[in-house]
Amino acid sequence: MKITVVGTGYVGLVSGACFAEVGIEVVCVDVDQKKIDGLKNGIMPIYEPGLEEIVKRNYASGRLKFSTNLGEAIQGSEVAFIAVGTPPGEDGSADLKYVLAVADEIGRTMSDYIVVATKSTVPVTTGEKVRESIKTALEKRGANIPFAVASNPEFLKEGAAVEDFMKPDRIVIGVDDERAEEFMKRLYKPFQLNGDRIIFMDIPSAEMTKYAANAMLATKISFMNDIANLCEKVGANANMVRKGIGSDPRIGTKFIYPGVGYGGSCFPKDVKAIIKTGKQYGYDLKVLQAVEEVNEAQKHVLVQKVKQHFGNDLSGKTFALWGLSFKPNTDDMREAPAIVIIDELIEAGAKVKGYDPIAMKEAQHIYIGDKITYAKDAYDTCVDADALLLVTEWSEFRIPSWEAVGKLLKNKVVFDGRNIYDKKYLGELGFEHYGIGI
Ligand code: UDX
Repeated sequence: MKITVVGTGYVGLVSGACFAEVGIEVVCVDVDQKKIDGLKNGIMPIYEPGLEEIVKRNYASGRLKFSTNLGEAIQGSEVAFIAVGTPPGEDGSADLKYVLAVADEIGRTMSDYIVVATKSTVPVTTGEKVRESIKTALEKRGANIPFAVASNPEFLKEGAAVEDFMKPDRIVIGVDDERAEEFMKRLYKPFQLNGDRIIFMDIPSAEMTKYAANAMLATKISFMNDIANLCEKVGANANMVRKGIGSDPRIGTKFIYPGVGYGGSCFPKDVKAIIKTGKQYGYDLKVLQAVEEVNEAQKHVLVQKVKQHFGNDLSGKTFALWGLSFKPNTDDMREAPAIVIIDELIEAGAKVKGYDPIAMKEAQHIYIGDKITYAKDAYDTCVDADALLLVTEWSEFRIPSWEAVGKLLKNKVVFDGRNIYDKKYLGELGFEHYGIGI
């Protein structure tokens, strides 16, 4: 079986490499020549555990190829996945220009039946637009070649992307063509060793499923952040409340950890986009509007606590900040709460020293620049700092030497944005600990 995957971002590169890993012939296509050259030389455009090994192994075996030539790649491909970016436009709706440009090029260059499946997160009705683009391009060349469109949203989590792809909970496929359904069944067979995980449905439902899943997860987080903030006011402990409610399987233990707000490339963008879709259809998604508001406010909660402790004017103060990426095990800085936290500290006159095990290059290069100084390790961050802020819960921050931290900091104060430290234990060591809702 041969397939083409267009776009070598998170979704495209991980999907392409994992399809090759189970024996499928894959061509990964991108317009970015530098990225493609890099991949041929084993240089990954993103940090993702396990990705480098499978890319290198499958490239060496010849099953995984990289190219900038889409027209050439799709010859002989049974399926073409569109996994290019859908950046949010000014108004929050997903911008489809890259997706539709790919569809147009497929229409201009295809020579045989092909299934064109969107893997990018795209608003409901995009399937129809993709179909129209291909049809128009075919008509322009006077060609009459059959094709099918499908929607195959990707649910992988950054930091666990390879694992999620190889062992999916479910595979959602929206399709309206029997032959395409057969192709997709065959393609995904190797990933379902534990029984049938494919859910076939119509195309709009598949498109909607992706948004509804992310919106529900974002809702759990904002709900819990709201409850945690109230816990603090009434003297309850959000950690206890979390355990108490999570033990009800209808609620579940996952995604109810309060913190500094959700970030990343999916939740913020998808929540905004589904609200926008609602508006376009004259429907107000009120719960999700609140989810977004709570999340925006939550990014400020940690600095509010800093100000409560040190006063509103932070000039002359330096803060040590552990963790920059939006979550552990990734170098992704998109919508990372650390960006907002750093800006707010600087605005109040403070200096910031940051450290992240993986994301510092990305942070300095694109998102934070030289607004802060970058430390060489976690302890170096604390040298002469007035307090420590934990923003991203990387494993290496979980059990630091508090003795060393206490000696390096000017004051034994910790602002724990992810509730990973034991307040009582830190108290016994002479630290003041501020958590979220505890
Ligand atoms: C998410 C979805 O999980 C995935 O299925 C989808 O395909 C893309 O979006 P990802 O953005 O990689 O994946 O990260 P995820 O692990 O879901 O975390 C999202 C954000 O929520 C992070 O900022 C994280 O810190 C935050 N979070 C998560 C919490 O604040 N509390 C929690 O309990 C869980």
